Amino acid sequence: MSVVILDFGSQYTRLIARRIRELHAYSVILPGRATVEEISRHNPQAVILSGGPASVLQPGAPQPDERLFDLNLPILGICYGMQYLVRRFGGRITPTGTREYGRAHLIQCDGPLFGGLEGGDLQVWMSHSDAVADLPLGWRGTARTEGNPIAAVESPDKRMFGIQFHPEVAHTLQGKLILANFLRVASVPLDWTPEHTLERLISEVQERTDGGRKRVLLAVSGGVDSSTLALLLTRVGIEHTAVFVDHGLLRLNEREEVEQALLPLGVNLVSVGASKRFVSALAGISDPEEKRKVIGREFIAVFREKALKLGPFHFLAQGTLYPDVIESAGSEGSASIKSHHNVGGLPDDIGFELLEPFRYLFKDEVRELAALLGLPEELRMRHPFPGPGLAIRIIGEITPERLGILREADSIFISSLKEAGLYNQVWQALTVLTPVRSVGVVGDERRYGYILALRAVTSVDGMTADWSRLPHEFLDQVAARITRNIPQIGRVVYDITSKPPATIEWE
Ligand code: XMP
Repeated sequence: MSVVILDFGSQYTRLIARRIRELHAYSVILPGRATVEEISRHNPQAVILSGGPASVLQPGAPQPDERLFDLNLPILGICYGMQYLVRRFGGRITPTGTREYGRAHLIQCDGPLFGGLEGGDLQVWMSHSDAVADLPLGWRGTARTEGNPIAAVESPDKRMFGIQFHPEVAHTLQGKLILANFLRVASVPLDWTPEHTLERLISEVQERTDGGRKRVLLAVSGGVDSSTLALLLTRVGIEHTAVFVDHGLLRLNEREEVEQALLPLGVNLVSVGASKRFVSALAGISDPEEKRKVIGREFIAVFREKALKLGPFHFLAQGTLYPDVIESAGSEGSASIKSHHNVGGLPDDIGFELLEPFRYLFKDEVRELAALLGLPEELRMRHPFPGPGLAIRIIGEITPERLGILREADSIFISSLKEAGLYNQVWQALTVLTPVRSVGVVGDERRYGYILALRAVTSVDGMTADWSRLPHEFLDQVAARITRNIPQIGRVVYDITSKPPATIEWE
């Protein structure tokens, strides 16, 4: 049983999926134009139509397969989705003339979607430029805001609902309760657990590899995603070779640590040293996207070479997560932000079939699986580390000298966090080496050193993040340790920007 979310290009669609899963119902996102056959394959119990940047008044506005309504499923339309439903059933939508964006307050809420809401704080998040002018016959408005007389609607038989605001974003204070109400009205079973995810993944992997007969080449990075995947393949008995590429853009002692962690778990691990190749391919390149492309290209080339030696392999398995997929490819109609190399950079003729069992999971869900599979705590709680490694933490050109400086600074910051018991309190911590130098004084000497930035963020899934309020005393000690041990660094700054508007990495 699932909740199928049809995506019409809203930047929040993936958050809807998350919220539904947090409520213990399984959710999948399909393109808005998915056919009824595709939708039915997911055994839907309810459907959510997402928001989107288009206007339902526009010619050729995206719409779901018309046969969706023959399935007689409960449907919740959010923003664009609501306007689509209203229009489809004979109501009228008009442009408001301006874009209503930001906080609003719901008043006079009524009906099953709003059951149990605590009065007082019905703040909701709006982002729309069309509004419902007339309701379809028999439908009724169930909430309004000051600027919006029809902010929520419901069909006569209460199988279809629409809301103009976004219940999935944190700014809608009781949004999760509204989604929970929809699941209840739609009788969606709330039985989605990590055990279910694991069962489903095991059968998917077994099926696709023909019971483990089709050999799998696995890219491991030492992060929780690929380590969990390696462990999953090991435990299920899939014939695999896990390749760890040391691209020379790793943290201090990372290769040894990965080997020491994965080999005892029975993972069939092969390490490849390819530092020189990557560092020379990156020489002279400053543009972040260009760096990612070069690294992606070299990465695939190394894999091809290794696969030829160790192969043949049928699959290339990667621990790609849902946010990587979304942020790289973008959903239909939404913008691409960064081309994460393990998703965007793969050539069409890669020569392997891709096996990415986690591509619909969020990192916290993978961590839960890792716990079930028995991945040691230190790997399970490891901070995310980007595929292109330190290359995207050196602003500007990458040189062996800069890599050395950054590696040492990173090691000081991370080990200090661990020593202070703060490591598990942040989602990710990193250091960024800027090409900017500033004046300082050491003893009686003037020093002209690099500016290094420390960044630590809290986050649930990396898609939005807040800067961590690390204690000043702690930051003070880290800055002192760094400038004492790394003479090339003259100044340490702490990044106090959240995502959005910044991203977690600087490049
Ligand atoms: P941003 O910087 O986009 O990062 O806010 C979100 C999360 O993704 C990681 N990241 C990457 N991971 N390849 C990866 O495998 C990449 O090119 C890449 N860029 C960012 C980042 O470390 C954070 O966890």
